[in-house]
Amino acid sequence: MTKRDIITLPDPMLRKPSAPVERVDDELRALMDDMLEIMYGAPGVGLAAVQLAIPRRVFVLDVNYRRAGEEEEEGGEKPRAPICMVNPEIIMRSEALHVHEEGCLSIPEFYAEIERPAKIIVRYIDREGIQREMACENMLATVVQHEVDHLNGKLFIDHLSRLKRDRVIKKFVKAAKGEVVA
Ligand code: NI
Repeated sequence: MTKRDIITLPDPMLRKPSAPVERVDDELRALMDDMLEIMYGAPGVGLAAVQLAIPRRVFVLDVNYRRAGEEEEEGGEKPRAPICMVNPEIIMRSEALHVHEEGCLSIPEFYAEIERPAKIIVRYIDREGIQREMACENMLATVVQHEVDHLNGKLFIDHLSRLKRDRVIKKFVKAAKGEVVA
């Protein structure tokens, strides 16, 4: 695996919209494999290419995955169920909303409850280059919307009030400068 690092707030690359992928080939599949390995290792439930400073419209996710401790709490290990989405487009959003706690590997150790459409349909190209549509609800709907946001240069903290969002950004800017964060 190629050595790649997850970039974090306030890296300006996170605000850059990602470019569409022109074709699904072995090079892209190798990137997706790297992304999955990094995501599972982090651990996380989703990772967009732009978080590795590669601004292309691709992300990976696995809402089945739980950290070791959680597996015990929830009664046994769940099998991995990785999903790769290329050039995803949300073609339907329900009016009904739901709230899930979100975090992001690019905003370490910060979590917040975010309200989003409860159900969506996403159209995307899969790992084999086949166009698909997937109806998503519950956590899957949240994760797909969170990852599509990444491809548009948007972060989950943008869904918070401006005051809360600015507080988070300020904390990460200070940390990046090596200042002590209160
Ligand atoms: Ni994220």
